Amino acid sequence: MVNNVNFKKGTTQIHYPKGTVFEFFVLCHGMLQLAQLLVSGYLKSSISTIERRYGFSSQKSGILASFNEVGNTLLIVFVSFFGSRVHRPRFIGGGALVASLAALTMAMPHFISGPYEYTDHISRKSHTQINTQICKNSSYLLLQMNSTLLPTSTWQGVFPLLLLGQLLLGIGSVPIQPFGISYIDDYASKRNSPLYLGILLAVTSIGPAFGFMMGSFMLRFYVDIDKKSKVEITLERQDPRWVGAWWLGFVVAASFLFLTSLPYLFFPRQMPKEKAGDLIGRQMRTLPSNIFFPLPGFPRIALRTLRNPIYLLVVLAQVNLAALVAGLATFMSKFIERQFTQTASFSNIMIGGVSIPMAVLGIVLGGALMRRLNIPTRGSALICVTAILICLFTAMPLLLLGCSTQRVAGIYPTQPKTLACSSECSCPSEAFNPVCGSDGVEFVSPCQAGCKNKILDDNNSKVLNYTDCGCIDVNGSYGYALPGTCGSSCKHFLLPFMVFSALTCFIASLSQTPSYMMILRTVKPEDKSFAVGVQYMLFRVLAFLPTPVLYGTAIDTTCILWGKKCERNTSCYYYNMDLFRQRFLGLQLFFICGAFVCFLLSFLVLRHREGQQVQQAGQGYVMVDGEKSPDNTSCK
Ligand SMILES: *[C@@H]1O[C@H](CO)[C@@H](O)[C@H](O)[C@H]1NC(C)=O
Repeated sequence: MVNNVNFKKGTTQIHYPKGTVFEFFVLCHGMLQLAQLLVSGYLKSSISTIERRYGFSSQKSGILASFNEVGNTLLIVFVSFFGSRVHRPRFIGGGALVASLAALTMAMPHFISGPYEYTDHISRKSHTQINTQICKNSSYLLLQMNSTLLPTSTWQGVFPLLLLGQLLLGIGSVPIQPFGISYIDDYASKRNSPLYLGILLAVTSIGPAFGFMMGSFMLRFYVDIDKKSKVEITLERQDPRWVGAWWLGFVVAASFLFLTSLPYLFFPRQMPKEKAGDLIGRQMRTLPSNIFFPLPGFPRIALRTLRNPIYLLVVLAQVNLAALVAGLATFMSKFIERQFTQTASFSNIMIGGVSIPMAVLGIVLGGALMRRLNIPTRGSALICVTAILICLFTAMPLLLLGCSTQRVAGIYPTQPKTLACSSECSCPSEAFNPVCGSDGVEFVSPCQAGCKNKILDDNNSKVLNYTDCGCIDVNGSYGYALPGTCGSSCKHFLLPFMVFSALTCFIASLSQTPSYMMILRTVKPEDKSFAVGVQYMLFRVLAFLPTPVLYGTAIDTTCILWGKKCERNTSCYYYNMDLFRQRFLGLQLFFICGAFVCFLLSFLVLRHREGQQVQQAGQGYVMVDGEKSPDNTSCK
């Protein structure tokens, strides 16, 4: 694992100014990891926007979100195989360049597809607007509709392109962390190594928050900000059809990745070792990313590790928590958007500014606690069990903090059907331009509401008011309708929701370090890097890969009105909010329960073992703390 041999062989006594090149390497590596996490965090922050822009189902966006793990999982084995025999800085730089290219690929669909089109957008250049504005009982509208909906075939290539971007991103990030960490660990002084690795770990855990914050910033701009002038942008940010400039963040991140990759092309293959006192041992060598498999003796080590029940149980518990995090990270912003009628931009602030910092705080505090108190393995298990149990109780109220879908005429609470009052209006079925009637009922479009007139603003670019609406009956006369959704009237639940979910994040994260300590202490020192490698492989295969797809599929089952474009389903217009909440949070509770059971079992096994040890050590010794389990006598 350690590359001292190579170092001795290849040294050509170059004398760098004391430590500076190496410190520069650590700095660069911090920046690079930040850039890398920026991309993945940003993708998750913009996924609901991409979904809407290109008409994906949530299942599709789940596949997209987890697709980088495919490239990553396939190639990580090679990294373990090459170990440190390669020119590590160049591999890292190359990986970063690939990742930068990947981010550009992700932004590409924006440049090759035409401008974003939605129902009733007011286009000055062409006649391609789909006009559902008002109720006209004539058939020319339908003819016009059919001819204008045809040239929208570009969007079919978008999904493969995004997948390719994600695949490249996964491939590019393969060498970055493992090679970086092993390089630092090889050439840092024993004294500084934990410090450097600690800094990198901190960067790694806070990185995604920057991604979400960047998402929040970018999604405030309109998607076609580069193609349209300001007066042409007539959508409001609160409009359910609003699409932010999702691609902008990928361009920024690609540039950042490109810049951080450059120094790596100049770092030497080997470095003189930093000189400093050997006060602290290299405790950090078994960091998560250090997954170099020791090839000789592999089967024996594998068998020995996998037969360790504590190891398996703790890893399974962590897999449950990782599944929870993967699903949350991908769809939490969509959940907040829909459930509390917030913009994508605002939802991302909640995640990047509240949820992630609370989780990081939990991890740090859990670590500090473990360091201070020198807690034994059984104590660690107890901490984990307690933390996850409390989590169950803080996550439960979340199920109650929400509202049903607002009343939408002909869609909710009734089954989707055409409205009799506007059946004469020849409203196109694909139209989505929600309006809120003066009686408080929402309509999918002003046409569906039977509105016959509209009042425009001074520029003639925005509709302010739809009037004479045949479907809206206010005291026997026709009512009016205002553009935009009525909203879920649930905004007041946002604050308690965020409080409870932040609390859940915080408490769950407390278990992170204790559970790692359990793994490191129950596995033989020489098996540690294998154990950590397997652990991360299981995270990928059992949690990061499948759960976003699982969550997406679950969310799709709660859709009550799918968007349609050229007879195909696009993204969901209306969800049954109660089902959405129950299934989304229900999955979370399921994973929390899974983690709880695994931690509890590991605690029981540990207690059982210690009971045995006590029995073996002191013959005839009677345990006084009343923890003797009845089956102590039956097993040896
Ligand atoms: C919309 O028009 C109706 C009927 O003309 C009017 O009563 C209502 O006040 C208008 N609402 C707004 C917000 O302009």
